Amino acid sequence: MRQRICAGNWKMYKTASEAVEYAGRFLDLVPSIPASVEVVLCAPFTALDALSPILRSQSRVKLGAQTMHWQCEGPYTGEISAPMLAEFGVQYVILGHSERRQYCGETDEDVRRKTATALRAGLRPIVAVGEPSAIRELGNQREHVEFQIRAALEGLNEQELRLVTIAYEPIWAIGTGQNCDAADANETMRAIRSCLPGLQDVPILYGGSVKAENVAQYTAQPDIDGALVGGASLDPRTFAALARAAA
Ligand code: PGA
Repeated sequence: MRQRICAGNWKMYKTASEAVEYAGRFLDLVPSIPASVEVVLCAPFTALDALSPILRSQSRVKLGAQTMHWQCEGPYTGEISAPMLAEFGVQYVILGHSERRQYCGETDEDVRRKTATALRAGLRPIVAVGEPSAIRELGNQREHVEFQIRAALEGLNEQELRLVTIAYEPIWAIGTGQNCDAADANETMRAIRSCLPGLQDVPILYGGSVKAENVAQYTAQPDIDGALVGGASLDPRTFAALARAAA
């Protein structure tokens, strides 16, 4: 049985005090979310310190970050390392999100190094892949994401792979309201699952305009284990409703 996961990706939203207010309201709603769903809040770095004690007081909602550096320390001005995150009780970290690839020049090689470093530091990487619309128009999305997955996970042993979560997020579906057809997303997930040995038990999340109203279409598919959620995770009631529907 693969873990069902609903991860909220807050992106560059919420100050530390806004995050605390959110967490208070969200934790009140958590009892309504079936225990089969692992809920993760991937907050900005500046909110982790404030969220950490609140989330440590319970066990249902896990703390996540949105990126990290591939080195554990060094002369990298402005960067944050895996041990720095782990100290705040961060358990998950999104790596290779398409916005990081697009705006911060992250490459497949960066994602590979970060994934290995996250695992060594005891963090669970959520490795994000997905095709831009130009690739989709050519019908080459499967080859594209298979290449990204092989590049990111190269060299990991089976034990390490078991700690990885994959997020398939078609770039054209992110924040556009144009979510990918669920059966179509499932086909790509299946291709991802079979492109490397050891991925049978790895949770694969769909991301891209997921809402409470459409999440069940995805989680009803055999290869989709949950969702990575941007916009719809920013309000505690909306995200709790989504996590309930994902069960
Ligand atoms: P969205 O973002 O849910 O707002 O489309 C998803 C993501 O970027 O992870």
